[in-house]
Amino acid sequence: MNKLKHLFMCLLAIGTVHHNLPCFVSVHLIPVSTPKNGMSSKSRKRIMPDPVTEPPVTDPVYEALLYCNIPSVAERSMEGHAPHHFKLVSVHVFIRHGDRYPLYVIPKTKRPEIDCTLVANRKPYHPKLEAFVSHMSKGSGASFESPLNSLPLYPNHPLCEMGELTQTGVVQHLQNGQLLRDIYLKKHKLLPNDWSADQLYLETTGKSRTLQSGLALLYGFLPDFDWKKIYFRHQPSALFCSGSCYCPVRNQYLEKEQRRQYLLRLKNSQLEKTYGEMAKIVDVPTKQLRAANPIDSMLCHFCHNVSFPCTRNGCVDMEHFKVIKTHQIEDERERREKKLYLGYSLLGAHPILNQTIGRMQRATEGRKEELFALYSAHDVTLSPVLSALGLSEARFPRFAARLIFELWQDREKPSEHSVRILYNGVDVTFHTSFCQDHHKRSPKPMCPLENLVRFVKRDMFVALGGSGTNYYDACHREGF
Ligand SMILES: *[C@@H]1O[C@H](CO)[C@@H](O)[C@H](O)[C@H]1NC(C)=O
Ligand SMILES: *[C@@H]1O[C@H](CO)[C@@H](O)[C@H](O)[C@H]1NC(C)=O
Repeated sequence: MNKLKHLFMCLLAIGTVHHNLPCFVSVHLIPVSTPKNGMSSKSRKRIMPDPVTEPPVTDPVYEALLYCNIPSVAERSMEGHAPHHFKLVSVHVFIRHGDRYPLYVIPKTKRPEIDCTLVANRKPYHPKLEAFVSHMSKGSGASFESPLNSLPLYPNHPLCEMGELTQTGVVQHLQNGQLLRDIYLKKHKLLPNDWSADQLYLETTGKSRTLQSGLALLYGFLPDFDWKKIYFRHQPSALFCSGSCYCPVRNQYLEKEQRRQYLLRLKNSQLEKTYGEMAKIVDVPTKQLRAANPIDSMLCHFCHNVSFPCTRNGCVDMEHFKVIKTHQIEDERERREKKLYLGYSLLGAHPILNQTIGRMQRATEGRKEELFALYSAHDVTLSPVLSALGLSEARFPRFAARLIFELWQDREKPSEHSVRILYNGVDVTFHTSFCQDHHKRSPKPMCPLENLVRFVKRDMFVALGGSGTNYYDACHREGF
């Protein structure tokens, strides 16, 4: 890969699974210890601002807090809301892993001291935390497709490893699971008490943080589940595209999108100045600092209320953080306008959406398999799906974000099936491009399944603007 292209990849890589590509451009990493500043981590200045209510203008600190998704008391959610004559048929859950340790280090600084063991006397806490650990320690490799069986089932390092799920991440998903349990199992009886293995469909990428997030959600959903009834499939692609990953046009959209992202960054002189200042503080060339994707690590400091790193040249501070975070928000805004990411997303999300409607259609035929599907994934999984669905106003997937497809049957007209789409508990069904304004024409508070099917089978490709009307043609369009 050439250097510029590599840099583009890195730019796009905030929180991605591409981090096996080292994001340093022709520099070697020399481990350098931070000078002692005589302060213990406890006595350092903390940076967590007080929780705020939604500000009138985009506020980088407020946005960052939403991204952290720090567990708090019961949140409001719209999952499972339906008139009495509707029966819940199946549920398809896409999650982003919970809070994790950074994937990148800020060069020449001490990495944040965060403990990834799970303990009851640390916040945030969940009443099922100890039972979760104890249940995980009874798990066996038989429940996991290779190579998942070589991964630890819960985080356990006193100093987190790179990318490791934290206690916050586990609690976020125990909470998600419990919320879904209360709604889908207790209220809507989605599964019988003696549910069987084939009623679940579980799939995760091969990172410990996604597997562990999936397990935490599952444990909240089905406490003390029988290990013999659990089987997690391994998904090698962050797009969950399984056998249909080859798509040259999708890659062309991605390259153009990365180019756009690069040019936007070059235009932002305040951002360049900030990187320059930070590079001086840590004493590396600016491009090395930038390539090390410092926002990923800074978000970890921010979300964990740990002060930003200092060296003898000074400290990385909140103003630096705000400038980079603000740029991220502007980048997302331009990404929506320029539509290149939409092209990437329509093709990238097609296989998993196609798989989902296949599962839904089988359920409408009365099949009792795969009634609860869980895909444990990444921001680079959820983002294209949200964009493809037309949910462009949706925020970038926070830690432990959840996107849910509910399939319902109208008991008064049993041949009619409808879907609801929820993002982080908010009903976004009528914000999707395939069901916009449907509620103005129909008294039903949901979207006909046919709309979603038509969208996935055909309209997705029409939206791309080419002549292709199926995935293969759209992926191989000439002269794009
Ligand atoms: C962040 O840390 C400071 C200093 O230790 C503390 O006073 C504050 O309550 C903490 N904030 C949160 C939200 O934990
Ligand atoms: C879409 O799903 C159907 C089965 O439901 C399958 O036959 C087809 O190959 C899938 N297409 C793609 C592009 O994934």
